[in-house]
Amino acid sequence: MPTDNWWRDGVLYQIYPRSFADSDGDGIGDLRGILARLDHLEWLGIDGIWLNPTMPSPNDDWGYDVSDFHSVHPDLGTLEDCDALVAAAAERGIRVLLDLVPNHTSDRHAWFTDAIRGRDARYRDYYVWADPAPDGGPPNNWLSNFGGSAWQLHEPTGQYYLNNFLPSQPDLNWWNDELRDEFDSILRFWFARGIAGFRIDVCHAIVKDRELRDDPAATPDDHPLIRKKGHKQVFSMNRPEVHDVLRRWRALADAHDPPRVLVGETYVLDLDSLIPYYGLGDDELHLAFNFLFVHSELDAEQLRRVVEGMEERLPEGAWPVYTGSNHDAGRLATRWAAGDERRARMALMMLLTLRGTPFLYYGDELALPDVPLDPDTALDPVPRRTGDPSRNRDPCRTPMHWTAEPGGGFTTADARPWLPFGDLDACNVAAQRADPGSTLHLVRDLIALRRRSPELASGSYAALPAPAGAWAWRRGERFVVALNTTGADVVVDDLGGRVAIATDRARDGDAVAGAVRLGPYEGVVVELGA
Ligand code: GLC
Repeated sequence: MPTDNWWRDGVLYQIYPRSFADSDGDGIGDLRGILARLDHLEWLGIDGIWLNPTMPSPNDDWGYDVSDFHSVHPDLGTLEDCDALVAAAAERGIRVLLDLVPNHTSDRHAWFTDAIRGRDARYRDYYVWADPAPDGGPPNNWLSNFGGSAWQLHEPTGQYYLNNFLPSQPDLNWWNDELRDEFDSILRFWFARGIAGFRIDVCHAIVKDRELRDDPAATPDDHPLIRKKGHKQVFSMNRPEVHDVLRRWRALADAHDPPRVLVGETYVLDLDSLIPYYGLGDDELHLAFNFLFVHSELDAEQLRRVVEGMEERLPEGAWPVYTGSNHDAGRLATRWAAGDERRARMALMMLLTLRGTPFLYYGDELALPDVPLDPDTALDPVPRRTGDPSRNRDPCRTPMHWTAEPGGGFTTADARPWLPFGDLDACNVAAQRADPGSTLHLVRDLIALRRRSPELASGSYAALPAPAGAWAWRRGERFVVALNTTGADVVVDDLGGRVAIATDRARDGDAVAGAVRLGPYEGVVVELGA
């Protein structure tokens, strides 16, 4: 049995490589840039990083349209740069996870350029093809996540191919055994280069219904995002057979020394559908991202329901994972906190003290907000394709703010960053490092507390009574976390000890005798009996 649980006890950090640090002055972040900033991650106390796609891609969907699974995007560097990053990170005790995109390829991947040559092409069956419906239209009612039908007619061969995202991202056919073998060797290729594991893109979606049955209509009790879509995607994705593939990958990951880690983008919006991705006997994903949590409001009741739902349902040995920001959903400082730093600090305290692995998104440690950008000129194709400006993902993919200087410490003073900065003066690493009261120091101190207190990393979760709008829980026997998610004062009773860390750092070390009063959006970690 694998025993190294670094991914369970540690804190992970998601990096959007184009936006973290630019080493060569072209305005685009790259792997050498990340390498040069490892000091920041080590200082912060990060155990592992997940890099958004690093493989060659025409960038129709910014790396999620892979054209070669065995290399590095030239904008980001070379395989040697990747090796150098993995080695330099390892020296600091930081593991590197890459993003694996097995649901689809770019239409410029060699498999697809072959597949469209004819119905008998060598790689035709690597993709999902179907004849037109009797009226000549798409084979079924499946909808693309990026708007419109999920089917694209390929006129020269008279069949439709499936695209759950862009038409230039044809879905792979996971019923094809050779394709399964190809991915085994892709995993092995990267594991052999020292990659600690993968975050697996839309991993719940890869296997489609073999009979291509229509998805049923959403019903009133479905999650609002499913109702917005109009369909329950139970045939176009979320098939039971996906678990065979995940078990296969898990066996492959476990066969490596040290065992590699699988983290899934399991975009399902009810907990009962999420749990199976951990497997029946700890034999599928190590961590399955929880989108009900991401899409909750920063509200004690809503978040508590999700967390306690996981606590009740998770099988023995399985471990939750929590995040408040990512490159699709936006940044917590904006989405959850609406720009109010008190709320962002409280959210960060929550992430770093819940029972589960926290994933921070680069900039979360500064409470970096989304950057308002015009959806009409977005580089992200989604707002245009869907006609929904709120789906613009550029605002949460903008460059990291290292300093207030021109170039932001991200690139040179005269380079034009691929996406604009936000307000560099208002929020940057250098200024926050110099300020012990900053969000950056709060995050670092919370991570350090978690690291030196096994109860906070791996202790049990026990709900405690708290007034409406507040949420309190005990970790192990030694710590209580109490958060106020409202704008009014609340009092949490029955607590005795000392404040280990408060979002208002002036309260650190205060004695707690019987009750703790929390001002608007305040949070405290109390060490019991201390
Ligand atoms: C995932 C990624 C997203 C991408 C999509 C298609 O949801 O997180 O950024 O656009 O997959 O690959």
